[in-house]
Order: sequence, then structure tokens, then C-alpha cells
Amino acid sequence: MSTTHLIVLLGFLLLAGTSSSQPTSGDLATLLAMKKQWGNPMQLASWDPVSNADHCNWTGVVCGGGEDRRAVTGVSLSKLNITGQVPESVCDLPSLTRFDLSYNNLTGSFPGVPLYACSHLRFLDLSNNSFHGVLPDDISRLSPAMEHLNLSSNHFWGTVPAAVGGLQALRSLRLDTNQFTGYYPTAEISMLAGIEQLTLALNPFAPAPAPPEFAKLTNLSYLWMSNMNMTGSIPKAYSSLENLMLFAMYGNKLTGEIPAWVWQHRKLQLLYLYNNTLTGKLPRKITSVNLIELDVSSNNLTGEIPDDFGSLKNLSILFMYSNQLTGTIPASIARLPNLRDIRLFENNLSGEIPRELGKHSPLGNLDVCNNNLSGPLPDSLCANGKLYEIVIFKNHFSGMLPENLGDCVLLKNIILSYNRFSGEFPAKIWSLPRLTTVTIDYNGFTGTLPAKLSENISLIGIENNKFSGTFPTSATGLSVFKAENNMISGELPAEMSKFPNLTELAMSGNQLTGSYQHQSFCCRSLSIST
Ligand SMILES: *[C@@H]1O[C@H](CO)[C@@H](O)[C@H](O)[C@H]1NC(C)=O
Ligand SMILES: *[C@@H]1O[C@H](CO)[C@@H](O)[C@H](O)[C@H]1NC(C)=O
Ligand SMILES: *[C@@H]1O[C@H](CO)[C@@H](O)[C@H](O)[C@H]1NC(C)=O
Ligand SMILES: *[C@@H]1O[C@H](CO)[C@@H](O)[C@H](O)[C@H]1NC(C)=O
Ligand SMILES: *[C@@H]1O[C@H](CO)[C@@H](O)[C@H](O)[C@H]1NC(C)=O
Ligand SMILES: *[C@@H]1O[C@H](CO)[C@@H](O)[C@H](O)[C@H]1NC(C)=O
Ligand SMILES: *[C@@H]1O[C@H](CO)[C@@H](O)[C@H](O)[C@H]1NC(C)=O
Ligand SMILES: *[C@@H]1O[C@H](CO)[C@@H](O)[C@H](O)[C@H]1NC(C)=O
Ligand SMILES: *[C@@H]1O[C@H](CO)[C@@H](O)[C@H](O)[C@H]1NC(C)=O
Ligand SMILES: *[C@@H]1O[C@H](CO)[C@@H](O)[C@H](O)[C@H]1NC(C)=O
Ligand SMILES: *[C@@H]1O[C@H](CO)[C@@H](O)[C@H](O)[C@H]1NC(C)=O
Ligand SMILES: *[C@@H]1O[C@H](CO)[C@@H](O)[C@H](O)[C@H]1NC(C)=O
Repeated sequence: MSTTHLIVLLGFLLLAGTSSSQPTSGDLATLLAMKKQWGNPMQLASWDPVSNADHCNWTGVVCGGGEDRRAVTGVSLSKLNITGQVPESVCDLPSLTRFDLSYNNLTGSFPGVPLYACSHLRFLDLSNNSFHGVLPDDISRLSPAMEHLNLSSNHFWGTVPAAVGGLQALRSLRLDTNQFTGYYPTAEISMLAGIEQLTLALNPFAPAPAPPEFAKLTNLSYLWMSNMNMTGSIPKAYSSLENLMLFAMYGNKLTGEIPAWVWQHRKLQLLYLYNNTLTGKLPRKITSVNLIELDVSSNNLTGEIPDDFGSLKNLSILFMYSNQLTGTIPASIARLPNLRDIRLFENNLSGEIPRELGKHSPLGNLDVCNNNLSGPLPDSLCANGKLYEIVIFKNHFSGMLPENLGDCVLLKNIILSYNRFSGEFPAKIWSLPRLTTVTIDYNGFTGTLPAKLSENISLIGIENNKFSGTFPTSATGLSVFKAENNMISGELPAEMSKFPNLTELAMSGNQLTGSYQHQSFCCRSLSIST
């Protein structure tokens, strides 16, 4: 600290000493002491009594306490790249209620001793730092006013202490993304009656079932218990958790059926149960009408997709891939106004794609590969111009591709391999500005390739179709071009040997003329026998 700073600071301290009620100059000194302990980082340059005399105007400092409303009540230093430890003097700020140090590079063990003295602390956010070690057994010595304790994304280890149950005013407890092991204190946590947000996800806990006691926590709106080694089934008793907005238990070893309440809770918006071994059928009646994102992929679900999904007017994401679903894709889904992303691949679905799919919603992605679907593709998929990906390989689709896919300006990937499409492949598709992948092999498409392909196309697979005409002379981004077993004729254009990124060219089974010196024409991998 410079001499000028010191003199000004002394002036403040002197004033504080002589005047009867000047607690805030004490706060100023405390803030400067904290800054000093952090090594006076540049990010706290505004914490300077010379150039910025009003400490309530310093970065991250919030005042409002005390008679003059000048006492510091909040210090929020998120994302400032601060290093070091939690300063010992922080609780010399007598009115501090909110302390946010999230997203920094702080280290050390849980700062119990400095923080226990903050008797009004209500909000503590240490998330996304590098704290480590075991949480102290006396963590309940934090202020009894504590409402929000966020320790997520650190390196804490050991068992979660039972003492967290002593923080009776807690409304959120975030312990996710750490290295906690053993058994967490289910009985104590289930005494936190006012808790609204609980996250235990992404910790290597010992395998154990979801605690039935949590059914008592009826104010819960956010329950994140993913990737934490949970076994057994989803408790039926959680039907009491009617305030759930997010329910996430993906990446566990859950078995059994999805309980009925999951499809009934009216406040539920985000449901993530993917990557378990859940079994059984979904019910016909679905009344959790506020669902926005639904992901039950990678389980062992059977039966049909309920027609009632058509009543989920806010549904934006529907992921049910890698199950054993049968039956058809209900027509009702096509009328959902918000549906953006549908992934139903790797099931045993049959029937046609609903006629109006894409007409009523901003559909961006349709992935239904590896099913038994058939019939033509509806011409509505890109009706709102949002479609960027269509992945439908290994089905029994037939008929012509809708011509209007050629107007689908955001289209990036189109993967139709192993179907029974026929007719002319819409020529306009080859010019779509964002297109990078076109794999349509093993169909019955006819058509020709234009001389100039869209610059972003890097992968073309049209083998085993009936394409004719000649080869492109311009395709700047092309890296793989597979076109075996078509009826393309003529010489490989000289331009092709100069496509900068071309590594694989497979042309056999066409009507090539001319002779090529294999090694010198182009590419790592070249097959151009006629
Ligand atoms: C707060 O600090 C900024 C610079 O950090 C300064 O421009 C502004 O005038 C100060 N406001 C008050 C009320 O002191
Ligand atoms: C964080 O601090 C380190 C070392 O002080 C520095 O190398 C890095 O660029 C900083 N990062 C940001 C995002 O400020
Ligand atoms: C701070 O953390 C970021 C992100 O984890 C890292 O890239 C950076 O190197 C760290 N800086 C220091 C000084 O440790
Ligand atoms: C930490 O948790 C609190 C309370 O749930 C929340 O308000 C805050 O946004 C979280 N911090 C981060 C960085 O997500
Ligand atoms: C914060 O933590 C989350 C979870 O570990 C991680 O995905 C994210 O990259 C972290 N952010 C930063 C800025 O370190
Ligand atoms: C649960 O939430 C309601 C509504 O916000 C609130 O009135 C009630 O006090 C909360 N329950 C507990 C035990 O905090
Ligand atoms: C699951 O529990 C076992 C035994 O405690 C442990 O070794 C393993 O790391 C845990 N796995 C995960 C993904 O947390
Ligand atoms: C699914 O969970 C297992 C552990 O249970 C994990 O190894 C695997 O990577 C997860 N897969 C996905 C796609 O998340
Ligand atoms: C859907 O979202 C809107 C706006 O976010 C909301 O008003 C509505 O209640 C939600 N639920 C249904 C079923 O529409
Ligand atoms: C669940 O599905 C996976 C992948 O489809 C399969 O390997 C596994 O055998 C199935 N398990 C049961 C219990 O059906
Ligand atoms: C898929 O469904 C068809 C009938 O549509 C049936 O013949 C076939 O056995 C089913 N395959 C599997 C793997 O369930
Ligand atoms: C060629 O490939 C490189 C690396 O994959 C990529 O960065 C570059 O954009 C490509 N060139 C063209 C013209 O697409």
C-alpha cells in the first residue's frame, strides 16, 4: 500500500475513533484488510479509499445495514479470478449477510473458523473454486440464519457431516460435483423442512438407494441426484414432492418402473432420468403438463409412447432414445407448439413420421435412426426454417424426399442411409450454406451432383444409389467423398485433385473414363477402379 493510501486510511481510522457512531469506516478497513490478504489483486483496484472514497461503491460491495445504511451487507466477487484463501477478517463486517466467492481460484479447506463468526450470514457461495478437504463436523456453527450454502464444483472429500442438518433455516444446499464418499446423512438432511434446492449429484458416494425420508421435504423444487451411484427404484413416496420443478436422477443404477407421480406432478418442468436401467411402460394418462424437457433415454423402457404427450404444450425436448419402445410415434406430438428436438433413435418404433411434424413448432433436430419406421418423410419438417439436423438411417422409409428440404437454410447434417428412398435427390440441397454432412447411401436416389458444392460440405456418402452425371469441380471443404456403385460417368476432373482437404475418394462401380495414377491424384485413401 502506498504512503498516500496509508495516510488516508489512518485519517479514516482516526475519524472512526473520535466520532461516536462510525461503524462503516471499520468496514472500509476490513475490506482493505481482505484485499491485502488476497495480495491486492488488480480486479479489486476500485477498492481504493483515495480514488474511490465511498466503499459502498467498490466492486462487489453492497451496503445497506446499520443506522446510516452504510454498513456492508454483501460482498459478491464472483468470476474475478481471485486466488488464495478466505480472509480471516471477513466477519469483522458485522452486518454481512451475503458472501459470494463463486468461480474463483480459491484454495484451502472449508473456511469454518473465519466464517463461524459471521453471525448474520444467510448466503454463502463458494462454488467453482478449488477448496478441498473434509467438511468440519461442526459446520452447524455457521450462522443459524444460513439459508443458502453452495459448495458445488470443488474438491471436498470425505463424508458429508451430519451437522449440516443443524442449519435449520437452509433453503438450498448444494454439494454436487465434489469428491464426497460414503453415505450422506439422509436422516439429518430430511429434517431440513424448508429446503427448496438440494444437489448431491456427481459425487462418488457408496451405492445406496434414494432415501425415502426425502419424501418429507415437500418444499423441494430442485432435486439433483445424478451420477452418484444410486441403486434401487425411484421412491413412490416422492409423490409428496409436489413442488418439484426439476427432478434429475440420471447416470445412476436405478431399476424398476418410473413411478406414476412423475407423470402427474403439475409443477415439473425438467425431468432427467436417462442412463439407468429403468423398465416398464409409460402410463397412458400424463398430467405433468408443464414439462419442458423430458429425457428418459438409455433405459430399458418398453411399451408405447403415450398419446397424451400431445398435451405437454411446453415440451421442447423429447429424448427417449436407446430403449425398447414399440408402436408408433403419436400424431399428437406433431401439434406441440414448442417442440425443438426429438431423439427417439435405437428403439423398435414402427409406422410413419406424423404428417404435420415440424409445421407447428420450431423443429431443429429429428433423430429417429435405428427403428422400423416407414412411409415417406412429411414435407412439414422444415416448415419453420429451423431444421439443422435430420438423422433417420436404418429404417424403412420410402418415397421421394420432400423437395422443400432444399430451402432449409440452416440444415447442417442429413443422414438417411439404409432406407428405401427413391426419386430425384433435391438438387438445391447441395447448395445449402451450412451443410457439412450428406450421407444417403443404400437408397434408390437418382439425380446429379452440381459442378459447385456448398463450401462447408466435408462429408458426402452417396454410395449404392443411382446418381448419374459427372463429378463436381468445386467443393472447397470436401474431405470424404464416397460414391461407389452409382452411374456417374466421365473423367475425374483435374480440379478434384486440388480440393485442399480431400483425404478419401471412393468411386469404384461407376462409369469412369480416363486413367489415373492412383498415388498422385489425391488423398490418403483412393479407390477409383471402374
Ligand atoms: C463509483 O465509482 C465509479 C468508478 O468506479 C465512479 O465513476 C462513480 O462516480 C462512483 N460513484 C459514486 C456515487 O461515488
Ligand atoms: C487469472 O489469473 C492468472 C494468474 O494471475 C492469469 O494468468 C489468468 O490470465 C487470469 N485469468 C483471467 C480470466 O483473468
Ligand atoms: C484459475 O482457474 C482457471 C479455470 O479453472 C484456470 O484456467 C487458471 O489457470 C487458474 N488460475 C490460477 C492462477 O490458478
Ligand atoms: C449457488 O447456490 C445458490 C443457492 O441455490 C444460487 O443462488 C447460486 O446461483 C449458486 N451459485 C452458482 C455459481 O451457481
Ligand atoms: C464450474 O464447475 C462446473 C462443474 O464442475 C464446470 O462444468 C465448469 O466448467 C466450472 N466453471 C469454471 C469457470 O470453472
Ligand atoms: C414451504 O414453502 C411455503 C411457501 O413458500 C412456506 O410458506 C413455508 O413456510 C415453507 N415451509 C417451511 C417448513 O419452510
Ligand atoms: C460407486 O461406489 C463404489 C463403491 O463405493 C465406488 O468405488 C465408485 O467410485 C462409485 N462410483 C461412482 C460412479 O460414483
Ligand atoms: C452412463 O452411466 C455410466 C455409469 O453409470 C457411465 O459410465 C456412462 O458414461 C454414462 N453414459 C452417458 C451417456 O452418460
Ligand atoms: C407453459 O409455459 C407458459 C409460459 O412460460 C406458461 O404460462 C404455461 O402455464 C405453461 N404450461 C402450459 C401447460 O401451457
Ligand atoms: C437393458 O438395455 C440394454 C441396452 O439395450 C441391454 O444391454 C440390457 O441387457 C438390458 N437390460 C435388461 C435388464 O433388460
Ligand atoms: C420389433 O418389432 C417388430 C414388430 O414390429 C418385431 O417383429 C421385432 O421382434 C421387434 N424387435 C425387437 C428387437 O424387439
Ligand atoms: C480443412 O480442414 C481443416 C482442419 O480440419 C479446417 O480447419 C479447414 O477449415 C478445412 N478447409 C476448408 C476449406 O473447409
